[in-house]
Amino acid sequence: MGKDVIVACDFSSREEVISFLGKFPGKKPFVKIGMELYYALGPQIVREIKERGHRIFLDLKLHDIPNTVKKSMRVLSELDVDMTNLHAAGTRAMMEAALEGLTRPDGSRPILIAVTQLTSTDQTRMQSELLIDRPIDEVVLHYAENARLAGLDGVVCSPLEAEKVHGRCGADFVTVTPGIRFDLGSAGDQKRIMTPAQAKAAGADYIVVGRPITAAADPVQAYERCLAEFLD
Ligand code: C5P
Repeated sequence: MGKDVIVACDFSSREEVISFLGKFPGKKPFVKIGMELYYALGPQIVREIKERGHRIFLDLKLHDIPNTVKKSMRVLSELDVDMTNLHAAGTRAMMEAALEGLTRPDGSRPILIAVTQLTSTDQTRMQSELLIDRPIDEVVLHYAENARLAGLDGVVCSPLEAEKVHGRCGADFVTVTPGIRFDLGSAGDQKRIMTPAQAKAAGADYIVVGRPITAAADPVQAYERCLAEFLD
């Protein structure tokens, strides 16, 4: 699996995202399209960004009964994205059904990764609201293992978990890590963060970077800095 920087395009209008991507002439960053943009503009924005030559991580986090997820993944497979995801909490049966749905008639398919526990869920809430009593790190690793057993390619996780996930699920199991900041003092709403260089040292395969690039005075320079710190 290749290592790369994925730019989270968390915008809600076509104008914003197209003008943002227009700042990268000659460069085609790997972009993440999340629920906000997808629900605002639908599959057409995915096709348009794909036609502009970008690789796409479609971050829709599916979670439903296996049959519904399978049929939805079949629809998404036609969008020709490079990576997509679901919630591991949907169980192995749901993840296996998702893989089946996502696999195109020629056998090809996007990379499929699982969300384990959302980073917004902490130990206290997991215990009191979800009635899961085990330590959250153990839950994350167990869900990652379920994803691996279902045949998925990897998980979304905090950069602080990437090493443990590789230890449990193997070096080839892909770790996609948000929570990246150049300056560890500028976390914003992210709680567990690393710099691109630290994420590289921790063995992350892909880093997802949003505001440090999208809100930078010079987004292209910020993107180049991420690439240099993470890949070189
Ligand atoms: O702006 P920032 O760099 O914090 O953006 C991170 C991106 O990664 C956002 O699109 C956010 O929704 C996503 N994400 C995350 N933590 C997760 C899963 C996804 O920050 N556990």
